[in-house]
Amino acid sequence: MNPLNLSEIWNYRHACKAFDPAKPLPQEALLEILEAGRLSASSFGLEPWKFLVIQNQEMRQRLVPACFNQPQIATCVELIVILIRKNLRPDSPYVLEQFSRWNLPHEALQGILSWYGGYISSMDDRALVDYADKQAHIALANMMTCAASKGIDSCPIGGFDPKKCAQILGIDETLFAPALLLPLGYRAKEPSPKIRLPFDEVVSFIS
Ligand SMILES: Cc1cc2nc3c(=O)[nH]c(=O)nc-3n(C[C@H](O)[C@H](O)[C@H](O)COP(=O)(O)O)c2cc1C
Repeated sequence: MNPLNLSEIWNYRHACKAFDPAKPLPQEALLEILEAGRLSASSFGLEPWKFLVIQNQEMRQRLVPACFNQPQIATCVELIVILIRKNLRPDSPYVLEQFSRWNLPHEALQGILSWYGGYISSMDDRALVDYADKQAHIALANMMTCAASKGIDSCPIGGFDPKKCAQILGIDETLFAPALLLPLGYRAKEPSPKIRLPFDEVVSFIS
């Protein structure tokens, strides 16, 4: 496949419903897709995520019903689960570690922590999870775009039972929650034409 320009990439990407299970992904492409997630922007640079690549077939099979039997989970050739971090309070070891990377003098670090603390002070635990969830969607979008740029298909999956998935993945639920799944592979058939609102309906130039 010839390299695509960005506009072609946006049009190539679609929510792929069924993958060709016989076509594996090149390893370097998978790593680059993960790198697109890792390098994504996040609020305060907190990177409140982890990316699990589920290559254990038994675990993959158990995830299928936890994702309401969506065929993408059963047919994809690689499956990324995006986890979000739950405790993003300023006194959590994770947050302290992230801000410490800035190598600031002690007082400046305290200042940043207090600024961040003020920023999230109105968020209850649910809102804080939603805050992390928003960041996860940026990583998701970048990974999908990266995949499409290589002619690799994907489908964002928000339709799953978070409790069941967390149990199957065996994650520490006090620290992490599954936010999204991203099955990858090559399309089994061509998608239907894109359905989108007209440009003028979603864009307004305010002068
Ligand atoms: C956050 C999010 C969650 C989604 N969850 C699912 C899902 O669980 N299953 C699915 O088939 N598609 C899912 N989609 C895909 C959308 O349905 C799809 O992007 C939309 O219909 C537009 O189609 P297109 O992406 O093919 O252009 C999700 C999309 C987003 C952004």
